[in-house]
Amino acid sequence: MNGLKEKYGHTAMIAGASEGLGAAYATALAKQGFDVVLIARRVEPLNELADKLRNAYKVQSTVIACDLADKDATEQIKLALGERPIDFLVYNACVSYIGPFLETEIETHLRIAEVNMITPMKILYHFGAEMLKRRRGAIVMMASMAGLQGSGYLSTYGATKAFDRIFAEGLWYEWKNKGVDIIACCAGATATPNYLNTNPKKTSIFEPKAQTPEEVVVECLTKIGQTPSYISGRSNRFASFLMQKLFSRKAAVNMMGDTTKKMYDIKY
Ligand SMILES: NC(=O)c1ccc[n+]([C@@H]2O[C@H](COP(=O)([O-])OP(=O)(O)OC[C@H]3O[C@@H](n4cnc5c(N)ncnc54)[C@H](OP(=O)(O)O)[C@@H]3O)[C@@H](O)[C@H]2O)c1
Repeated sequence: MNGLKEKYGHTAMIAGASEGLGAAYATALAKQGFDVVLIARRVEPLNELADKLRNAYKVQSTVIACDLADKDATEQIKLALGERPIDFLVYNACVSYIGPFLETEIETHLRIAEVNMITPMKILYHFGAEMLKRRRGAIVMMASMAGLQGSGYLSTYGATKAFDRIFAEGLWYEWKNKGVDIIACCAGATATPNYLNTNPKKTSIFEPKAQTPEEVVVECLTKIGQTPSYISGRSNRFASFLMQKLFSRKAAVNMMGDTTKKMYDIKY
């Protein structure tokens, strides 16, 4: 994971940086010497993290408060950055909803689609093009194991995470010989405040242990440039091998839905 700054440039931008995985990416990249641009809605935790990184690693840290569900989020970010180039981009932010598809308003699903698919597409359209012009850059798209098969009670979220992976893989092919590396990280359960706040119940003794955000980040930053996408963590890779290669698609979809139902005590 060393040498990322020498390879990719000076400034990293993390969309969804105020806590959990986003904060862990920001910390790891600042530790490598990148100046960081931190984006999320809540300014207070962003400012705290920015101060911490400035003091610990003597890097420049900039905060941009932005709701990535806004249709003009990319324009807001471009305006805040001015001419400043972004060399390393992490799209980490996401919205999710756990429960039966019809038991929340359509607006929730549209918001999930906006933050998890439409905004990253717009952000990559602009910042990816800038990286290609300089023939240098790196992009991490956070995907999820929920996107590896239909995921009942996470139907919209899972579908957007499948999009994130497939989108990144396609761009990996298009950009691989043009100096821009892109990777989709398919994480499993990760002990972020967001995940822990959902109060997941343990469903079986064979369930993979949640990774720490730092574990996910180290693995991702080690793998970037080597593969279009990967599954984070050995036990998640094993679980995914069983689900994708040994089970029928029907069995995998059933197992995913049954596990989520049990995990969140869903009566439906
Ligand atoms: N945690 C897991 O178990 C897990 C598993 C698989 C995949 N993933 C993937 O990993 C990524 C991180 O997930 P996480 O839930 O664990 O979150 P996290 O990294 O702990 O935090 C999510 C970040 O996104 C920001 N964010 C959320 N909605 C936003 C919006 N509309 N505009 C701007 N910023 C926004 C949040 O800040 P504000 O609230 O301040 O805006 C926060 O900084 C996601 O892409 C997720 O799909 C996570």
